[in-house]
Amino acid sequence: MDEDEAQKRNSEGNWEKCNSLITGTPEAAVFPHLHQRIYIDEFESPPSENCKHDLFPKWHVPVKTALILSLLTFIYTFLREVIHPLVTAQENVFYKIPVLVINKVLPVVSITLLALVYLPGILAAGFQLYYGTKYRRFPQWLDRWMRSRKQFGLLGFFFASMHACYSLCYPMRRSYRYKLLNWAYQQVKQKKENAWIEHDVWRMEIYVSLGILGLAVLAILAITSIPSVSQSLTWREFHYIQSKMGHLALLLCTIHALVFAWNKWIDIGQFLWYTPPTFMIAVLLPIMVLACKSILLFPCLRKRLQKIRAGWDANTVSHRALMTSGL
Ligand code: HEM
Repeated sequence: MDEDEAQKRNSEGNWEKCNSLITGTPEAAVFPHLHQRIYIDEFESPPSENCKHDLFPKWHVPVKTALILSLLTFIYTFLREVIHPLVTAQENVFYKIPVLVINKVLPVVSITLLALVYLPGILAAGFQLYYGTKYRRFPQWLDRWMRSRKQFGLLGFFFASMHACYSLCYPMRRSYRYKLLNWAYQQVKQKKENAWIEHDVWRMEIYVSLGILGLAVLAILAITSIPSVSQSLTWREFHYIQSKMGHLALLLCTIHALVFAWNKWIDIGQFLWYTPPTFMIAVLLPIMVLACKSILLFPCLRKRLQKIRAGWDANTVSHRALMTSGL
C-alpha cells in the first residue's frame, strides 16, 4: 500500500470515528451523511482530537491584519481628533468616538486592505521579470499572500460597506443638527444671506459619487468571488473582472479620498502635533500600487511578462545560446 492510500484510509477512519462521536450511533458511522440531519446542541462537542479542525484557516492572516490596522488607526485618530483638542483647547469632543473616529478608521483600513489585494500581484510580476521565468517558485510568504487575496478583498469590501453606512447617516446625528443651527446663527449674525461655497459643493458632489461608484464595483467583485458564480465564468472572464475591475475599484476609491481631501493637501494646519492627517496615510499605499501597476503596463514590460507567462524562459534561452556558441 503506498503512502497516499494509507493517508486516505486513515483520514476516512477518522471521519467515521468523528461521525460516530457526533451522532453517537454506529449507523451514522456507516452512513456519514446522517450527521447532517441530527441536531447537535451547543453543549455537545466531540472530544476526539481527530475532529478538531482549524476554523477558517484562510482568514487568519487577513483578519489579524485588519484588526491590527484598525487598532493602530483608531489610536492615531483618537489622539488627533479627541486628545489634541482636549489638551490644546480644553475642548471635550469625546462624542466623536462612536461615529466620526470610527468612520476614519473604516475607510483607512478598507482602502489599505484593497491595496494589499493588488500588491502581491505586482511583487509576483516583478519576481517573474527578474528571474525571466514562470517556473521558479514564489517565496512561501508571497505564495500564501497570493492565495489569501480573496479574503483581503472581501474584508476590504466589508469595511467599505460599513464606511458607506456610517457616512450616509452623518446628517441624522444630533450633533450635526446642533452644528448646523450654530452655523446658521453665525451666518445671521454676520448678515450673510448666502452660505453657498461653490468649490465645496463640487468637492462633495464628486467625492460622494466616486465613493458610491467604487462601492458598486467592489460589490460586483465580491459577488463574482462567490464559488457558484465564479464557477459559471470562464477563467478569462473571472480574471478580467477580478483584475481589471479590481484596479478600477482601487482607482475610484483613491480618487474619492483625494477629492475628499481637496485643498486640505496644501493646508499645513492639517498637521496636528506634526502628524499627517489620515487621508494622506490612507492613499499612500494605493497610490504606490496603482503607480507600479501603470509601470507594468509599459509595452516593453507588458510584452516580456506576457511572454514569460506563456511559458518563455529566459534561462533556457540563454543556456541554449551558450550551447550553440560552444558548438
Ligand atoms: C457609498 C459610498 C461612500 C460614501 C458615501 C463615502 C463617503 C465618505 C465621506 C463622507 C468621507 C469623509 C469622512 C469624514 O468626514 O471623516 C469619506 C472619506 C473617505 N472615504 Fe469614503 N465613501 C464611500 C465609499 C468609500 C469606499 C468604497 C472607499 C474605499 C475603500 C472609501 C474610502 C475613503 C477614504 C480613504 C476616506 C478618507 C478618510 C480620512 O479622512 O482619512 N470610501 N468617504
